Amino acid sequence: MEIFRIMGGKPIRGTIRIGGAKNAILPLLAASLLTEEPVCLTGCAALSDVENMIRILGMLGAGAKMEDDVITVNPAQASRWEMPEHLSKLIRSSIFMLGPILGRFRKATVTYPGGCEIGLRPIDLHLKGLRALGVRIREAHGMIYCDGSHMHSGEIMLDFPSVGATENVMMAAVLIPGKTVILNAAREPEITDLQEFINSMGGCVSGAGTGMIVIDGVKKLRGTHYRVMPDRIVAGTLLTAAAMTGGDIAVRGARACDLDAVLDKLSAAGCEIIADDEGISLKGPEKLRPVDVSTQPYPGFPTDMQAQMLSMCCVAHGTSVIIENVFESRFAHAAQLIRMGADITVSHRAAIVRGGRLTGARVCAKDLRGGAALVLAGLAAEGATEIQGVSLIDRGYESLEKMLGGLGADITRI
Ligand code: EPZ
Repeated sequence: MEIFRIMGGKPIRGTIRIGGAKNAILPLLAASLLTEEPVCLTGCAALSDVENMIRILGMLGAGAKMEDDVITVNPAQASRWEMPEHLSKLIRSSIFMLGPILGRFRKATVTYPGGCEIGLRPIDLHLKGLRALGVRIREAHGMIYCDGSHMHSGEIMLDFPSVGATENVMMAAVLIPGKTVILNAAREPEITDLQEFINSMGGCVSGAGTGMIVIDGVKKLRGTHYRVMPDRIVAGTLLTAAAMTGGDIAVRGARACDLDAVLDKLSAAGCEIIADDEGISLKGPEKLRPVDVSTQPYPGFPTDMQAQMLSMCCVAHGTSVIIENVFESRFAHAAQLIRMGADITVSHRAAIVRGGRLTGARVCAKDLRGGAALVLAGLAAEGATEIQGVSLIDRGYESLEKMLGGLGADITRI
């Protein structure tokens, strides 16, 4: 099993270009099923979650392959509408296939994707949204049998602005005649990317980025050639690495408008930040100030940056309070940081962090973003850190060790 070995204390310095967003590529690949013509996604990152989604598409009959940063999908031959268990278990976001499979075939059989390290991850809002479109759903033995033969447009009120549920309903409604409205929709930039992608195929979706999304059904979608949005969480992670090590970094391709809440906290911690059309530059301070963070749906502070921010607070000069409002158990990294000397008290959804110094230790990633947070801690710690569970980090970061190594870090994959 591979591990990362880091010798801390080196400032993160230099320029790096950001790749395509994992949380945009995954729904875009799923939405490719909605056409029978070739789809080409450019600017993609080689991530294990992306590779697994490509495998799922292949096993549904839609030829898909990745060369360099380009993914081509040939959905014409897609014929399977059942997602076998072993595929659904490959990645949680396989549930995003439900909407497009129904949109294409008007029937679908999927398994419950199951929870993961950060929470139960239920799909009740996905199913509520699809039922509002007339999908008849029967659940038995962990399987979900969907009959979409009577699908119709409709109005859906989401109890929570779920990203996945918003995306699933958008994709299910694109080929349904009539106007479908999603209220209390998620506003994340990845939703807007999905809207633009669908519209580039001849769809008619509007309102993404607001709480109300309107889908006017069309008869058919054509193929497209689409550049994926940059990964705002990878950008935020690298900016935080520079903040924690007194570094100086330029992240090319990052869009400040995707990261306002994160930049606000990095600035409050004492970082000097310049954002322009090229990207975002950050100079870390000699002494980091503590910050309080409360995660929220977009445009609030993103839950996918909570772990990295908590890491930063471990080396700030003062006490910070981190509240995780989106997922019910997303502090697994705290116990690992405590092994590195962090002073953290976790109670339910709150973590109190008394900043100080970190020392290198053997730690283990428990989930994707928590693993990235441990890498950041290793960069700032005194001495050597070894991180197990690198495969979890590879789900969302393409060769993180190469990215950071190119920015002055002493990090190796062994
Ligand atoms: C997406 O997950 C992202 N994944 C997550 O990123 C991200 O953390 C999350 O959105 C929130 O921004 C992808 O896009 C592939 P949600 P998703 O539905 O869609 C509850 C990463 O690290 N909920 O917005 O699963 C749920 O339990 C990953 O890149 C229901 O109760 O997130 C959670 O508490 C992690 N019922 C909250 O909503 C439902 O039917 C937010 O979940 C669906 C969700």
